[in-house]
Amino acid sequence: MAKVLILYSTTDGHTVEICKRLTSTIEQAGDSVEMLDLKDGPSLEGREFDKVVIGASIRYGKHQPVVSKFIRENQATLEAHPNALFSVNVVARKPEKNTPETNPYLQKFLKQIDWQPQNLGVFAGKIVYPALGPLDRTMIRFIMWMTKGPTDPTGTYEFTDWNKVDEFGRMVAAL
Ligand SMILES: Cc1cc2nc3c(=O)[nH]c(=O)nc-3n(C[C@H](O)[C@H](O)[C@H](O)COP(=O)(O)O)c2cc1C
Repeated sequence: MAKVLILYSTTDGHTVEICKRLTSTIEQAGDSVEMLDLKDGPSLEGREFDKVVIGASIRYGKHQPVVSKFIRENQATLEAHPNALFSVNVVARKPEKNTPETNPYLQKFLKQIDWQPQNLGVFAGKIVYPALGPLDRTMIRFIMWMTKGPTDPTGTYEFTDWNKVDEFGRMVAAL
């Protein structure tokens, strides 16, 4: 039984939901999983694991700075294990932007880091308009209006393709 470390960065918790779903799929395949929040500054030193996954969401065009910082500081350890990286954003709800090759945020991020993950994923996220502050709600509604997405300020919109998440989980279990 291999142990998978999933390190995540989230702002509103949807990436955690995706990591929980990955955990369930990976555990069903026989591996064990430990999930750690990058915000807590986890250390890989002395930690036992066989595979590593990093997942992070986009906010106003960027992953949280803690993601690239962690990658920079732990690149050798990441490279020494079978590894994967995934990004969560709402642009990925668009079929033409929902693969690692076509998602602009993932592509831009890969140019900013030296690490070349062995496996990549992109998942569409979730918008909960009522949970947003007035400024964020206005900004997201504007971005959605520009990109022909939903703008009802009372709506909750989950764009995540959970089959795709499960497929990614099975891929990690098979590494
Ligand atoms: C304030 C805010 C800004 C966002 N900015 C972007 C963005 O620039 N591009 C994008 O594709 N998605 C954007 N999103 C969508 C998030 O990536 C999506 O809601 C994701 O599910 C958030 O995951 P998290 O809850 O783990 O942080 C934004 C969401 C919020 C609330």
